[in-house]
Amino acid sequence: MSLSIIILAAGSGTRMKSSTPKVLHKICGEELLFYSIEVAMQLSDDIHIILYHQAQRVREACESRFKDRVHFHIQDFENFAGTGGALMQNGEMIDTAHKRVLILNGDMPLITSHSLQKLISLSSPVVLGVIESKKPFGYGRVVIEQGRVKAIIEEKDACEEVKKICTINSGVYVFDKEVLCKFLPLLDNHNAQNEYYLTDIIKLSASDGIEVESVLVDEEEFGGINDKAQLSQAEEIMLNRLRERAMREGVIMHLPQSIYIEKGVRFEGECEIEQGVQLFGNTLIKDTHIKAHSVVRDSQIISSDIGPMAHIRPNSFIENSHIGNFVEVKNSTLHSIKAGHLSYLGDSEIDEGSNIGAGVITCNYDGKSKHKTKIGKNVFVGSDTQLIAPITIADHTLIGAGSTIRKDSKEGDLLTSRAEQKNLANGYFAFFKDKK
Ligand code: UD1
Ligand code: CA
Repeated sequence: MSLSIIILAAGSGTRMKSSTPKVLHKICGEELLFYSIEVAMQLSDDIHIILYHQAQRVREACESRFKDRVHFHIQDFENFAGTGGALMQNGEMIDTAHKRVLILNGDMPLITSHSLQKLISLSSPVVLGVIESKKPFGYGRVVIEQGRVKAIIEEKDACEEVKKICTINSGVYVFDKEVLCKFLPLLDNHNAQNEYYLTDIIKLSASDGIEVESVLVDEEEFGGINDKAQLSQAEEIMLNRLRERAMREGVIMHLPQSIYIEKGVRFEGECEIEQGVQLFGNTLIKDTHIKAHSVVRDSQIISSDIGPMAHIRPNSFIENSHIGNFVEVKNSTLHSIKAGHLSYLGDSEIDEGSNIGAGVITCNYDGKSKHKTKIGKNVFVGSDTQLIAPITIADHTLIGAGSTIRKDSKEGDLLTSRAEQKNLANGYFAFFKDKK
């Protein structure tokens, strides 16, 4: 690949009003910057990220995900502020770059590699992604005269006449490396923001007779995120994409607009997802029906039906099972079981043919640490049973309703633990003296 990619991510993102760096905010469970990196990795093997604000935090986040497949550079913000400054301090990075250099921003998670392919397929020394916008306020305006791009003028430096221009700079460019080598050293910060503007390269190129090609790009994709309102708008768009892809892969979705799915969710086989379902994290749903308003996080569910209103928490593996309403499952492996109503199954392993009655609770926490509950095959756990972990229930155990079980069972046992029932004749009338 003869393309290097530089992702600008040094800015503070003031308008997010957050202690979290802008590029680490998430949509559909994934950091904004990670979307850009993923797209970049489809196009290039030489990816550079420019950091400054909370650089260490951003870098660690990226490294935990992408290891050493991306290179990091810290911008010298004090001396070289601005998008041009971001590149000027990295002479070495430009010197060793491939022939063409694509510049991306770290806050554009909706850009697709398909759209970028279009830009990088062009051969002009400078290719500039532009947007025709009804709301150009705040963006750099692209000055075009007789079909030729002349300059980009930032909002803060623009006169009234320029502010009327509706062709704006997306901030995504492809440069010949030579153009950057030639003009980066010539940038200055004599402007309203006292910043080194990358956009000034356009003016320098144009006046040097170098061809600058502008390409219309999609506002939705290239718009960028500056505040939390735009963050949620971007999430809507990403959700639409994820839902649509799932449906095209064969998933039935009821009222898809009400279904939340994160980027790490995968579907296999034939699945049906009802309204209000939320699927988080690294989750696999295979040949499964998830009923209304259930929540699943970081789990695998295969050939089962879940909910309505079930809560499947991280590290659960559920296969061939029926999990009904108000059942909460956490860190558990369930093979071919039924738990129809109102249960908590945490840190448990339950084997095939077992039935978990309504209201059964695995008491997995003793106030200090968590313990396991193991239930064998064909066990019948009566309603409202508490299983005090650690505990192992053997195959073919029958547990009477309302029991508190502390001791392991042997195969074939019937377990009960409850006070004998007393029937006191006329006890009702003795208590409610006025009701006869
Ligand atoms: C920039 C463009 C503007 C364009 C807009 C599109 C310049 C001078 N202006 O505006 O023409 O319409 O993007 O979004 O380039 N960044 C750094 N270091 C810096 C400053 C910014 O890495 O010193 C990064 C930011 O983290 C961000 C990106 O560059 O990812 C764009 O910065 P931002 O402040 O959002 O854009 P503007 O400079 O306002
Ligand atoms: Ca800025």
